[in-house]
Amino acid sequence: MVRSFRILVALVIIITSYCSFDVSQGGGGGNNQLRVGFYGGSCPNAEAIIRGVVSEAAASDPNNAPILLRLHFHDCFVEGCDGSILIDNRSETDERRAFGHQGVRGFDIIDKAKAQLEGVCPGVVSCADIVAMAARDAVFLAKGPWYEVETGRRDGMVSNIRLADNMPDVGDSIHKLKAKFFEKGLTDKDLVLLSSAHTIGTTACFFMNDRLYHFPAGIGGADPSINPSFMPELKNTCPEKGDVNARIPIDHGSEKTFDNQILQNIRSGFAVLQSDARLYQDPSTRSVVDSYFGLLSPFFGPSFEADFAASMVKMGRIGVLTGELGTIRRVCSSF
Ligand code: HEM
Repeated sequence: MVRSFRILVALVIIITSYCSFDVSQGGGGGNNQLRVGFYGGSCPNAEAIIRGVVSEAAASDPNNAPILLRLHFHDCFVEGCDGSILIDNRSETDERRAFGHQGVRGFDIIDKAKAQLEGVCPGVVSCADIVAMAARDAVFLAKGPWYEVETGRRDGMVSNIRLADNMPDVGDSIHKLKAKFFEKGLTDKDLVLLSSAHTIGTTACFFMNDRLYHFPAGIGGADPSINPSFMPELKNTCPEKGDVNARIPIDHGSEKTFDNQILQNIRSGFAVLQSDARLYQDPSTRSVVDSYFGLLSPFFGPSFEADFAASMVKMGRIGVLTGELGTIRRVCSSF
């Protein structure tokens, strides 16, 4: 009797995890064929080639590491991780021209890796996988964790600016941010950890204007959650009616190194982006932030690096096309 009850419970767990796994698809495709080492037989040097291109790019300009990390997020959140953001038909309806993708770069680096891969294994490695592996390499180069990237994604066949309408926005409320992540099968914990990608990189002052001078939206003043001692520096770099393209580090004091300083900054009012600051104003996301700073955290607490890596792997599964679905593009910017 007890034994059959256990079997029943096990079955329920398997079925429920299968259902939640399906939700994480964000529509279209399946991730059941993603696996670590997908190109082991068909293009054994794929990972090394991508790593070489990313290392070279980061050596010539350290900004390229955060740029590549951000690119993966923007790819995955629209139609899944299918390389749709890379398409450049030189048309105003290209997804990459969406407002929600403002400032996204790194396309040339992906193109370069793809060209090298086509030289050794033509038509094998998808652009979506190149983006995912490049993001992982970028994290590692910034002294972040190394993690295995599941591969086997295929490239999408659609690029439509309207599909990016629902990208998370820096001015979104925490409820909206949580909902947008939930829609992709990501939890509040994933929201915190993936936002921690802001541990490296910079933002254009364009994204700071409302937070510094029109907060809440449309009304005057600055976001009161900004630590007053941080305000002069922010306003100095991003003066009202100043250059919207001027850039400011997102992780105050540690923008070049992957570490949990971003979470410490969020706790102390030193978050730069409004969406990061909001993470500390909701009980559930706040408790995730705090979980990395418990008294015994360095010894017994959760590992920020391992949890970040797990969330990245999860993000990399959103809406992927595998098996017979999608295609393998020969040039990442065109169908
Ligand atoms: C929670 C929702 C998010 C919002 C609202 C958001 C918003 C932004 C904004 C406004 C910028 C500045 C862009 C620029 O000026 O070029 C930025 C930069 C960045 N974001 Fe996010 N982001 C979010 C989540 C993520 C996620 C999930 C990742 C990766 C896993 C990520 C990685 C980055 C990186 C690395 C940069 C720096 C880019 C650079 O230096 O060029 N972001 N983000």
